[in-house]
Amino acid sequence: MSDSRFPIPESRPLRIAVLASGRGSNLQALIDAIAGGRLDARIVGVFSDRSGALALQRANAAGIPAQAILPRAFANRLAFDEEFFSRVDAAGPDVIVCAGYMRLISEHAVDAHRGRLVNIHPSLLPAFKGLHTHAQALEAGVAEHGASVHYVTPDLDGGPVIAQVRVPVQPGDDAESLARRVLAREHPLLVETLSLFAARRLALRDDRVQLDGVALSTPLQLAANQPFA
Ligand code: GRF
Repeated sequence: MSDSRFPIPESRPLRIAVLASGRGSNLQALIDAIAGGRLDARIVGVFSDRSGALALQRANAAGIPAQAILPRAFANRLAFDEEFFSRVDAAGPDVIVCAGYMRLISEHAVDAHRGRLVNIHPSLLPAFKGLHTHAQALEAGVAEHGASVHYVTPDLDGGPVIAQVRVPVQPGDDAESLARRVLAREHPLLVETLSLFAARRLALRDDRVQLDGVALSTPLQLAANQPFA
């Protein structure tokens, strides 16, 4: 399926909407990168399914419009997503970033935003989908763990992977220590990936990630403290 119906206009800073259910440290990384001139973008809205999400406070502190839309007010997922995404769309984002957004998104909403909806997931996808990824990685005994940014498709954590960062598992790691080190690398991964969107270098076409019009054969890999080549 072609996703060229969403060409991102070149004429202005990338407009980003962030969906977040909790802590919002990835949101903060984007806020800081924009403020520091490292990401040519504007966060046009933060949207949460939880009124107590720290992400909403971070948005308020940065002067970014933020709102919580609570699922319990809706009859079902479809009705919730219809209202939720109509508010997201009203902000006019070029890219919608799920950064710790903990709700499943209906297929209808995913399809309506295909090619513009991305998620950051704390594992080297396709390994360790779903929750408790750090515990899953330790349980499996892998030497390397990490994080991925991928396009969202109806297949949970299964959409085309744009970019990854690898984090070695250390002797004595528990889920918390591993999560801490992965999270520290998620932040530059997300910023760098969005920089590629901001430079209009990324597209999703025929279910493949394209960089500068060429399909990637493997996800981009973020090296330590290096931007993508
Ligand atoms: C991150 O580990 C992200 O990969 C996962 O949820 C966590 C969100 O953290 N999807 P934060 O809310 O950005 O601090």
